[in-house]
Amino acid sequence: MTYEDRARPARKLLVRETVREADGVLGVVLTDPQGADLPAWGPGAHLEVCLPSGRIRHYSLSGDPADRTTYRLGVLREPDGRGGSEEIHTAPLAGRLLEVRGPLNRFPLVPADRYVLIAGGIGITPILPMVRQLAAGPVPWTLLYGGRTLTSMAYRDELAALGGRNVSIVPQDSHGLLDLDHALEGLPDTTAVYCCGPGGLIQAVQERCDRLLPAGSLHVERFTAPAAGPRGDTGAFEVELRRSGQVLNVPPGRSLLDVVREAVPSVAFSCEEGMCGTCETKVLDGVPEHHDTFLSDSEKRSGTSMMICVGRSRTSRLVLDL
Ligand code: FES
Repeated sequence: MTYEDRARPARKLLVRETVREADGVLGVVLTDPQGADLPAWGPGAHLEVCLPSGRIRHYSLSGDPADRTTYRLGVLREPDGRGGSEEIHTAPLAGRLLEVRGPLNRFPLVPADRYVLIAGGIGITPILPMVRQLAAGPVPWTLLYGGRTLTSMAYRDELAALGGRNVSIVPQDSHGLLDLDHALEGLPDTTAVYCCGPGGLIQAVQERCDRLLPAGSLHVERFTAPAAGPRGDTGAFEVELRRSGQVLNVPPGRSLLDVVREAVPSVAFSCEEGMCGTCETKVLDGVPEHHDTFLSDSEKRSGTSMMICVGRSRTSRLVLDL
């Protein structure tokens, strides 16, 4: 969700019901409280959801884009996570109103002559609407879906009904790891590969696509940040908050977000790992040093915005639109 997106009005949606989709996976069905149609969306889209605690989280839409009356989310319970999934799994959400923004789409289906979809675990949520769309059209496609156990893998019946033999469901405990070599070798250059799942899966798919397909063939959506590289947070710099005129010092070892929050407690953030886009902030002067995985390379080169949770500055002063 970019800063332009965040300027859009939020809306309150009613949690119509929660549904157990698989072991550890809860489905959340949202609807307009007055029964109005919801904004249209396409496969790969997600919602920004403000939980009752105030936590902001992003969840892919896993339902049917043709159904304008509901949005469906699938949430994996992560007891060692940052609390959002625990809250969704344990709070009585049905009947409550939740504030949402979106849908937004950073993972859209691009035109291609063939599609290979690869999902790991809860990474199936943005992939399922892609299956729905591709199954209704003439372009060849396959889905490789891995999970720890069969009963932990959500939407199996729906996928089988939609895709039949195009869908391979591979529980690790009985069938081992996904055969990525088989799925990715010998494909035409005009293939688009979509992958969503754990970092290890994305990395394994990336390595094969780098070797086997033209640049740009792979499209990924991450739920966790990749293994941390050097963040370069050893140098101090100044940040000027243009709207208030305050100038703050960002010392070594403190994040820009931490410092900004002291002056602007309402500043939006979520993952603090540079992957969700919630803290994207417009840069008015200075050269940002990006450490996120949200912006594209060309967006990073333009230097017009940055993720302040992980980003720093290449210049002695950075001027932000805050
Ligand atoms: Fe998620 Fe900064 S809070 S990218």
